[in-house]
Amino acid sequence: MTDLVVVGAGLFGLTVAERMAAAGRHVTVVDRRDHIGGNAYSETDAATGIEVHRYGAHLFHTSNARVWEYVNRFTAFTDYTHRVFTTHRGEVFPMPINLGTINQFFRSALGPDAARALIAQQAAEMAGRTPANLDEQGVSLIGRPLYEAFIRGYTAKQWQTDPRELPASIISRLPVRYSYDSRYFSDTWEGLPVDGYTAWFERMIDHPRIEVRLGEDFLDDGAEVSRASTRGRVPVVFTGPVDRYFGYAEGDLAWRTIDFEWETLPVGDFQGTSVMNYADEDVPFTRIHEFRHFHPERTYPADRTVIAREFSRAAVRGDEPYYPVNTPLDRERLEAYRALAASEPDVHFGGRLGTYQYLDMHMAIASALSMVDNVLSR
Ligand code: FDA
Repeated sequence: MTDLVVVGAGLFGLTVAERMAAAGRHVTVVDRRDHIGGNAYSETDAATGIEVHRYGAHLFHTSNARVWEYVNRFTAFTDYTHRVFTTHRGEVFPMPINLGTINQFFRSALGPDAARALIAQQAAEMAGRTPANLDEQGVSLIGRPLYEAFIRGYTAKQWQTDPRELPASIISRLPVRYSYDSRYFSDTWEGLPVDGYTAWFERMIDHPRIEVRLGEDFLDDGAEVSRASTRGRVPVVFTGPVDRYFGYAEGDLAWRTIDFEWETLPVGDFQGTSVMNYADEDVPFTRIHEFRHFHPERTYPADRTVIAREFSRAAVRGDEPYYPVNTPLDRERLEAYRALAASEPDVHFGGRLGTYQYLDMHMAIASALSMVDNVLSR
C-alpha cells in the first residue's frame, strides 16, 4: 500500500519522491513516458556514444545553497561553463550582448562607460513614449541597431510572429553586460552531472520505498494507478498539465513547443561550441546544439558528432508543452484552474506543468523541497 502517488518523474516529482521516501513513506511514481527525468532526460546516442539531451540542452546552474547541497548528494558536477554565440549576417558574436559583442558589432574599442552612453543614446529614440509592442520595447531597452541585429529576428522565429504584433510585456529587460564576461549564467554554481543526467536521476529513486511505473498515464482511467483509482484513498502530487487534469474545462493554456531536427555528421567537430544561435530571420531554426561540447572531459569519437537544429512554434494538444505563453487570457484561465485545484485538497499541483510557469531545474527542485516541508510533511 502506497502513502503517496507522484505523477511525473521530472525533477519536481523525483525530489518529492526521494524526500518522502527518506522520511519513511512509501511512494509510487507514475510517468506516461518510458523514462524518468522529465524534460531534463538525456541518453547515450547509440551510434556515437555521445550523451544527448532529448528535450533540448539542459545546463545545471543555481545560487541556492540548499539546492546545490541537495543535488550533490546524487551526483558530482563537471566544471563546464556555458557560453553561447550567435551568428548574424555571416559573423559570429558572443551572447548575451557584452562589451565584446558591442565592440565587434560597431567596429569600435569602447570602454564600459562609453558603450553605456552609446546604447543609452540609441535607446533615446523611444524617449517619452510607452512602447506599444515588443519591437518598440526592444528598441527602448537596447537601441535599434543591437535590437534589430540580435533580438528581432530571433524573437520573430521563437514566436513565429512579427514582433510588432507581439505585446511589449513579453520582454521586460534585455541583458547587456558592459564587461567582457561572456558566461551565459551568472549563478554561483554551474556544471553538468559527471555521469550524465540519467545516472543522477536513477540515484534519486534508488530506494526500497519508491516504486516507479513508466508508460502509464495517470489520467487514463483504465490505468492501474489513476485519478479514478486513487481518488479519496491516497494523496497525489500531480506535475502534469493542470488544464489537462481538469479536462480543459476552463480552456487550453497556451504553450510554445520546439521541434528538433537531429543529425549525425561525419566530422569530429561541427561548430566548435555547444550552442550557436542564429539571429537572422532568413535562417529558419533558432539554434544548433552540438552535444559533444557539453563534455570536453570525455573521450568521444574523433570522426562523428551529433547536432540538433531547434525550431520553435505554438504548441497544439499532443505536442510537448515547453514554454508558457502567458497571455492575459492564460492568466485568467490559470486562476480558474487554481480555484478548481483548491476543491481537490488531496491533489497537490506542482512543477512547471502543474503550475503553468517556466522553472529552471534548480527552481523545480527548490519548489519541490518547499512542498515537502510546508504541505506534505505536515
Ligand atoms: P517535467 O516536464 O520535467 O516533468 C513532468 C513529467 O510529468 C514528464 O515526464 C511527463 O511525462 C509527466 N506527466 C505529465 N502528465 C502526466 C500524466 N497524466 N501521467 C503520467 N505522467 C505525466 N532548466 C535548467 O535549469 N537549465 C537548462 O538549461 C534548461 N533547459 C531547458 C530547455 C528547454 C527546451 C526546456 C523546455 C526547459 C529547460 N529547462 C532547463 C527547464 C527544465 O526542463 C525544468 O526545470 C524541469 O523540466 C522541471 O521539472 P518538472 O518535474 O516540473 O517537469
